[in-house]
Amino acid sequence: MKALIDELDTHHILSGENLLSLLENLDEENKQYLHTKANRNRLQHYDDRVYMRGLIEFTNYCKRDCIYCGIRKSNKEADRYRLSKDEILHCCDVGYQLGYRTYVLQGGEDPYYTDDRVVDIVRSIKEKYKDVAVTLSIGEKSYATYKKYYDAGADRYLLRHETHSRTLYERLHPHMSYDNRIRCLEDLKAIGFQVGAGFMVGLPSQTNGDYVKDLLFLKQLEPHMVGIGPFIPQSDTPLAHEKGGTVEKTCILLSLVRLLLPEVLLPATTALGSLHSKGREMGLKSGANVVMPNLSPTNVREKYALYDGKICTGDEAAHCRKCIENRIEKSGYHVDMSRGDHVTRAM
Ligand code: SAM
Ligand code: FES
Repeated sequence: MKALIDELDTHHILSGENLLSLLENLDEENKQYLHTKANRNRLQHYDDRVYMRGLIEFTNYCKRDCIYCGIRKSNKEADRYRLSKDEILHCCDVGYQLGYRTYVLQGGEDPYYTDDRVVDIVRSIKEKYKDVAVTLSIGEKSYATYKKYYDAGADRYLLRHETHSRTLYERLHPHMSYDNRIRCLEDLKAIGFQVGAGFMVGLPSQTNGDYVKDLLFLKQLEPHMVGIGPFIPQSDTPLAHEKGGTVEKTCILLSLVRLLLPEVLLPATTALGSLHSKGREMGLKSGANVVMPNLSPTNVREKYALYDGKICTGDEAAHCRKCIENRIEKSGYHVDMSRGDHVTRAM
């Protein structure tokens, strides 16, 4: 196994067969070896810096029905909310005072936010703060819509591909098309966004072979960011009683992505932190170099309930900022509050 990890470390590519062999046969010693190599790659490209993104969950209305997701349209238990433009700008003000220079605007696919409304929000943020990056994460749109967002000043777009197994994708996403998801990612890249793809770990019936497909797809797409998080069941969804992903498997996949795409921006996700009290720290040690503390108003935090047991739902933005900083420093890394662009896009 060490020879395969060395090969991946040197050439940043491995055949599907060898990736599968790694996933199937990693013992404890080789797992540590993999994490050490991944961490070394991250240090080489981004030093010991961890980039902070302020996450604003601005709507939990969604027209989609992804069967794992707590804010899917069929979930009648979800307590719906949306933030006004002023409320979003207020979150940015609070974030700016705390030093954040990237805002991630995430939400369900909510038709209330027409192109004009999104463009107006993005433009207002970019006009107010000249030195910030705006990331959008609001799902599948047409090329023309993405282009409007980009022209308004949006810098980045997160759209996980969720799984590169077509059959699993179709089972999890009623009335959605895998091909359209990929079309969106390709359009976003062509327009010029810094693009984030990514997948969940531990979905029902997901196999190591499926992860190999995810890894090879990411290598081919070469996104600037990759979001990998464990699937965590949500009690009001059809997958409420499924098992969910593990911290261990998620960290292995983070390390493999770091070695395949050494320059990628890789978050230690809130879902990882929700599964284990030290989950995000473990993610950082496996090669992650981004965290996304919450800037959403505390009165809506619990309502953005994608999965059960989500952390930080009661904490003020300032508290989250301090808490995560302590965790990062204790793990031997340093907080970096700059925009944190991908190395190929650094200004
Ligand atoms: N609507 C946008 C989209 O589809 O990209 C952004 C919002 S969506 C809620 C953000 C991410 O949450 C998804 O890409 C998915 O991977 C993740 N997610 C949703 N339900 C989850 C669950 N039960 N466990 C872990 N992650 C989940
Ligand atoms: Fe739309 Fe989850 S089903 S955000």
